[in-house]
Parts: sequence; structure tokens; C-alpha cells
Amino acid sequence: MSRVTVSRLRKMKQEGEKIVSLTAYDASFAWLIEDAGVEVILVGDSLGMVIQGRDSTIPVTLDDMVYHTRAVSHGTRESLLIADMPFASYGSSGQALASAARLMQEGGAQMVKLEVTGEMTEIVHFLAQRGVPVCAHLGLLPQTVHKLGGYKIQGRGEAGEALVRDARAMEAAGADLIVVELIPVEVAKRLSESVSIPVIGIGAGVDCDGQVLVLYDMLGITPGKRPRFSRDFLAEAGSVPAALRLYVESVKKGRFPGPEHRIA
Ligand code: KIV
Ligand code: NA
Repeated sequence: MSRVTVSRLRKMKQEGEKIVSLTAYDASFAWLIEDAGVEVILVGDSLGMVIQGRDSTIPVTLDDMVYHTRAVSHGTRESLLIADMPFASYGSSGQALASAARLMQEGGAQMVKLEVTGEMTEIVHFLAQRGVPVCAHLGLLPQTVHKLGGYKIQGRGEAGEALVRDARAMEAAGADLIVVELIPVEVAKRLSESVSIPVIGIGAGVDCDGQVLVLYDMLGITPGKRPRFSRDFLAEAGSVPAALRLYVESVKKGRFPGPEHRIA
């Protein structure tokens, strides 16, 4: 099979086939994840926490992201590879393009992900016009944790409507994909129905076009408490390959996330 493309993801959305995504940080896991049938691999800046042991994603540098993206890219041939743009690497359009270029040229990413608000359409448009596929990350934006004062559910009440507007604005600006994190299930459903680009959720209910989890959370090996919206697939399945297959099957059949993973 050839590389998963943005048009293939769009077609999956149109046909109601769930998109499966997971994070990876190295070639070995990337290979296993791809082998299990995961369409989208994300080199998340969550690596700051699960690989580097920091207490947020803010210390992660562009060099860190390039290093891990390159490692993951050597372990995949078919999954679409997305790399996170780290904190303060997209303060202006020019800086964003330079950062994206490193992740694509040195790292081998096919798409970059930016944590955005509706104010940031200009940067997304600038990248899209220059051939950079963009994933817009909306909802809880972990890179703003110190401003938020914690990892809190976003998009409650009127803020939900604003999120739907932001998603539309991102599509109009040229984004090819949206990730929504930690928002109410109904908001995620409305948001997904409001755009024609695919919406992948984490802690956002089953009605998104696809699901993503942090690999170490779904294997139950993240230190501390597992997030309530995640599930320990390794404990259930008994081996890493079986856990990955169970995750793919559960997402494809709409069995994950279940009601027990609902957070809002
Ligand atoms: O960094 C990450 O792992 C992410 C996912 C949680 C979407 O951004
Ligand atoms: Na991230």
C-alpha cells in the first residue's frame, strides 16, 4: 500500500470510516503501530512528558521534535506522519514556515500540527499556501497550560460555539485536519459535522471522525494516573501488537471511546 494522503482521510470521513491515530516517538513503535493498521502517526510534543519526564510540553524544542520525527519516519512507510510544532516555534508566519520546513525536510513529516485559536488563521493560511499540510489543534491547548492554570476541559457553554466557529475558520484558512482535545462530546459532534475536513478527537467522545491517544497512555505505561478518557489496551490484550490491534478494531467499530471514558 502507498502512503495515506489527506484526500484519503477526507474520503474516509465522507464514507463514515473512522480514522485511527496514535502517537509515536521512535522507529520500533512506529513500525508496530503502522503494522496494526493505524492511518495517522503523530510525533506529539507529549514526548516532553512521556520520553523526557518533564511536567509539561513547554520545554520541548524544535531540535527534539526533528530528532524524534526522523526516528519515527524511518519506521513508517504507509501511515501519514504528523509532527507537532513545539512551543514558541510558530510565533510568526515566517518562523512557522521555517519550523515546518525542518520537520518536513530533516524529520520526514508529511504534515505539521499547531495548537491554535481562531486568531491564528493567518499563520495556517500562510503555511497552507506554501504547500505545508496543516493540522489545527483546538480545544485544550497543552502549550498554554501556565496561562490556563491546568489541563482543564474547554468549550463548555458559549465557548463551544466559538470552537465550532474556529474549526470552520481553520478549514477556510486551508487546514487539512483538525485535532480536538478535551471538549464536551456534543461540541465535538457539532464541530465534526460543521467542517468537511476530518476531525480527530482525544477526550472528545466517539462522534469525531477519528481518535488519537498518547501511545504510552493506551499501553498503561505512563507514570502516574492514566487519563480518564484513555483505556489500558495492553492490560486487556496481553502484548503490544495485540493491544494496538484491539485499539484499531475498537476505534473502527465505534467501541472506543465508550461511555465510561466520557469526561464532559
Ligand atoms: O502531543 C500529543 O501527543 C498530542 C496529542 C495528545 C493529540 O498533541
Ligand atoms: Na501535542
